[in-house]
Amino acid sequence: HVEARSIHHVGVAVADLDAAVRTYERLFGGRLEHRELVDDQGVEAASLRVGDSRVELLAALEEDTPVGRFLAKRGEGMHHIAYEVGDVAAALERLAAEGVELIDTRPRRGMFGLEVAFVHPDSVHGVLSEVVSVG
Ligand code: CO
Repeated sequence: HVEARSIHHVGVAVADLDAAVRTYERLFGGRLEHRELVDDQGVEAASLRVGDSRVELLAALEEDTPVGRFLAKRGEGMHHIAYEVGDVAAALERLAAEGVELIDTRPRRGMFGLEVAFVHPDSVHGVLSEVVSVG
C-alpha cells in the first residue's frame, strides 16, 4: 500500500467559482489560499484552507472538459479526495504493482505547484482519488 500522510484536500466541482469561494468563507471560515486558471485543463480552481484542512473548488471553463462533463452529468458536488504522499512516482509504482487502475501512470504538474496523479474511481469504491506531493 501507499503510506498516505493525510488527506491533502477534498475536491468539489462547482458551477460558479466566486459564489463557491464565498460560500466556504461564510459557512466554514474558509480562507482563500490560491486561485489559478489552468487553460489546458479547462479549469479554474481555488484552494481554501478550512481549519487545518483544505478544500479545492473546481469550475469548468468549457463544457467539453473533464470538470465540465462531470458537472453536466452529476451536477455540483464532491469530485475527488487527494492524499498527501512523500513521493508520487513511488506511490504510482506501488499502486500499479497492486493492480490498481491509474488515470495517470506518471506524476504530472497539478495546480498550485503540486505534483499529482489520479487513481481511477473503479479501484477506490467509486471515489476519484488523487495522490499529491507538496515537494
Ligand atoms: Co485535487
